Amino acid sequence: MQELLNDILEEVKPLVGQGNVASYIPELAKVDPNQFGIAICDTQGKVTTAGDANTGFSIQSISKVFNLVLAYIYYGNSLWERVGCEPSGLPFNSLVQLEYENGIPRNPFINAGALVITDMVHSRLISPHVALRDLVRKLSGNPYILADVDVAESEFEYRARNAAMSYLMKAFGNFHNDVEEVLHTYFMNCAIRMSCVDLARATQFLANRGFCTITKNEVLSGDQSRQVNALLATSGLYDEAGSFAFKVGLPGKSGVGGGIIAVVPGRFSICVWSPALNKMGNSMAGVAALESLTRHIKWSVY
Ligand code: DON
Repeated sequence: MQELLNDILEEVKPLVGQGNVASYIPELAKVDPNQFGIAICDTQGKVTTAGDANTGFSIQSISKVFNLVLAYIYYGNSLWERVGCEPSGLPFNSLVQLEYENGIPRNPFINAGALVITDMVHSRLISPHVALRDLVRKLSGNPYILADVDVAESEFEYRARNAAMSYLMKAFGNFHNDVEEVLHTYFMNCAIRMSCVDLARATQFLANRGFCTITKNEVLSGDQSRQVNALLATSGLYDEAGSFAFKVGLPGKSGVGGGIIAVVPGRFSICVWSPALNKMGNSMAGVAALESLTRHIKWSVY
């Protein structure tokens, strides 16, 4: 495994730093683009790494996976009454489908879907962000994981689009709590800092039919874990989901901090990170690294 990761690192080196770091808030714009890390966690919990795999970064939309886990815990399958399971084929922050589709977002991984899920979790918990933070601490075995409050505050300042989606959903009756409070939680969740090692460990249950070897407990049922992987495969990379399936062929979830998690069901979870993004908002070197990985292991879900 170590040799595989070393090879991938060599292969993607020329791409590291190509593309652009997210610049919609100053805190993300100042991240050094010349960084790359990769970590793999197998179903026994053994971790293998290369590059900057222990450097913390803003998990951003990868938080949507853990948010969905919380919704499964508190709502079970009834969560699907308020959010769909179809790919959107549109950018993560698009508003257009919401009006046509009566305020029901296509899936939990676009912003509108994650906002509805955050709203649902708000209805059940007094401190939904603390619950999510504690969940990732537990799953990764790292008790020091924290959100970067500067990132969260900056996101809140530039919240207009996410606020617009939330209010539109409220107008359709699909948003029950105070919009500004839910946005706070959503941005705090996005602002959580984790490393590739933390994220590979925290998503290992998805490679293991819902069972986390690190905490030795069932995070999701086998069926739910299969559903999450299916959604990751169809919607985890937004409008790049099709070409990601074509090139990589694994369930995956990206974030504008440059992280991508991916799952080889039954074998291992992976996290790659490199902050410079392609035009679709996904890590350029990260996508290339995962493409190289599936080529090397000669395996994909397809
Ligand atoms: O909602 C936003 O705009 C960000 N905090 C999260 C965006 C994100 O990571 C989208 N994924 N690629």
